[in-house]
Amino acid sequence: MTQHNLSAPEVVRRPPGPPCPWFGAPHMQAISRDFLGYTRQMHREYGDIVFVQMYWEKVCLLNAPELVRAVMVDNAASLIRQERAIEVFSRVHGPSVMMAEGEDWQRLHRLLMPAFSPRRVAGYARLMVDAAKPLLDRLVPDEAGASALIDMDELTSRVTMDVICRTLFSRDLGDKAREVMEASHALNEIAMQELTVPMTLPDTWPLPGKAAKRHAMRLFDEVIDSHIAARRQMPADQAPQEDVLAMLLAARDEEGGGRLSEAELRAQCKVIFLAGFDTSAKALQWWAWLMAAHPQQAALACAEVQGVVGQREPQADDLAQLPYLSATIKEALRLYPPAAGLLTRRALKDIEVGEWTIPRRSLVIVSPWVLHNDARSFPQPEVFRPERFMPDAPPLPRSAWMPFGLGPRVCIGQHFAMTEMTLVAAMLLRRYELAREPGQPEPVAQLNLTLRPAQTLRLRLRRRAPAP
Ligand code: HEM
Repeated sequence: MTQHNLSAPEVVRRPPGPPCPWFGAPHMQAISRDFLGYTRQMHREYGDIVFVQMYWEKVCLLNAPELVRAVMVDNAASLIRQERAIEVFSRVHGPSVMMAEGEDWQRLHRLLMPAFSPRRVAGYARLMVDAAKPLLDRLVPDEAGASALIDMDELTSRVTMDVICRTLFSRDLGDKAREVMEASHALNEIAMQELTVPMTLPDTWPLPGKAAKRHAMRLFDEVIDSHIAARRQMPADQAPQEDVLAMLLAARDEEGGGRLSEAELRAQCKVIFLAGFDTSAKALQWWAWLMAAHPQQAALACAEVQGVVGQREPQADDLAQLPYLSATIKEALRLYPPAAGLLTRRALKDIEVGEWTIPRRSLVIVSPWVLHNDARSFPQPEVFRPERFMPDAPPLPRSAWMPFGLGPRVCIGQHFAMTEMTLVAAMLLRRYELAREPGQPEPVAQLNLTLRPAQTLRLRLRRRAPAP
């Protein structure tokens, strides 16, 4: 691994980068068209820190774990989210922890953290299993060897949406499930489009696409509001005490006092719902593909699951005994980080990193897609090798693996996501063998807010004979 001298710089210099003719127009077009390809190409050609002028934007790409740490952790106080992201997502979520900054963020973060502590998340495990079970049970007729070709995006989205709904509200979406899933996908796609343009015209205007956005937002608001209203009407002794909504309603800020206002409560429910279901769905989809494409590793993971849970459903206590399964999920998150393009920040002042200066107002971009593909951290990075994440493997360079981000704004739901994905993966493997169809090509990754296969991914799920 290249050693960067991160101590006091002797000369303050702008990082290296490509020529930027036409005010950098070709770079702006290239990154908007193909973020994944562009960021890897810049890393290959210019190295660990790259400076590019794109019209009015000074862009700084960080491509080495120690540089990412130096900026995202050591200089976290000098960074905010990109204004455009705040604008786009705040319209959908309202005043959510994800888009707040400064003291507002600290307060919301303090109020939310207890609901996502590892101990609390372990308590959600039963709700997660209850949500996934009916969906996984009915995929294929219940006889050994029976099989079906399954659309994995539809399956994983339905499962993770039901999981998030049950853990938030202790209820499912009933007959609204498909509509809400489509609305959530539509909101993600609209957000992705809006992020690539400098401004959005008001949603109330009669323009193409606005009606679909209004419909999706209205539906989503109604669903969240109806669940909150139903809880408020319940007698206290009948209301669930163990779900995320119960935690949010009970949350008190020990430092500043106060609790979540009604608007804040709705916004946190919305952001948890939207941030929590699509990322985990895409991660599980990629994991399922990798299991289908690597039957040997899938057999090892399955044997581990059968040895630990046998014929029952997995529970929170089992997770520590499933290190190989967990390693397959971490390796899937390495190869296909769902939030491959969401880590952008605005520098509020000049930031010095070793011999370089990131100028004030620069847009800093960190891409797990680039970091996770670096042979210095992950030898033969293109190879699926869960052993990298086994407890006895040599330690990885610090922050080289960062699917959940880094620094104070790291994903609040990371324990939740790992618990959910491991439970669902164990439930899937226990029931089914996952197989690709003959001649099925490797899916191509495409960034559409989250990282997803460019074409619909279908896998054959074949029911296993009950373990002896
Ligand atoms: C595989 C699944 C997931 C991945 C890969 C993922 C990834 C991320 C990343 C990279 C960030 C940081 C973005 C940044 O720094 O700009 C983030 C933030 C966040 N995530 Fe996740 N996430 C996942 C699942 C979840 C789940 C299940 C929840 C909730 C139940 C959740 C809730 C949030 C929230 C609320 C934030 C904002 C935190 C803040 O700004 O303080 N995520 N996530």
